[in-house]
Amino acid sequence: MTKIIDKLSVLLADTYALYLKTQNYHWHVTGPQFKTLHELFEMHYSELADAVDELAERIRILGHNAPATFKEFEQLKTIGDGDANASANQMVVDLHADHKKLIEDLNVAIEEAQTLNDEGSIALLSERIASHEKARWMLGVSREG
Ligand SMILES: [Fe+2]
Repeated sequence: MTKIIDKLSVLLADTYALYLKTQNYHWHVTGPQFKTLHELFEMHYSELADAVDELAERIRILGHNAPATFKEFEQLKTIGDGDANASANQMVVDLHADHKKLIEDLNVAIEEAQTLNDEGSIALLSERIASHEKARWMLGVSREG
C-alpha cells in the first residue's frame, strides 16, 4: 500500500507544481497571443487546483497524511519551475512537455493501483490522464511552427 501512497504523493506535488507554473505563465505571458493564452492557462490551472484537492483527499481516504507544505512539495516534485521571462511559445511548449511527463507517471501509478485492486485510485488516475491529454491537445495545437 505504501508504494501507491508514495506515487500519489509525487503526483500531488507535481500537480501542484504544474498548477503554480501554469499560473505563473497566466500572469507573465506576453505577445499577440496574450488574451488567448492568458485565458487558456487560467482554464488549465483552475482544473489543476481541483485535481490537487482530489489527489490529496485520495491519500487521506487511504489512511495517510498528504504532503501539504511547500517544503514537502519541493522535496517530492519532479516538474521544473516556470520561467516568467520565457516567450509565449516557450511557455506553451514547456507546459505541453510537463503534461506528457504527468501522463507517463500517472500510467505507472495506475499499474501499481491495479496490482492492489485499488479501484478508487484507478478511477481517479484515469480521470487525471484524460484531463492531461485534453490540456496537452489544446497546448499542442496552440504551438507556433
Ligand atoms: Fe487571473
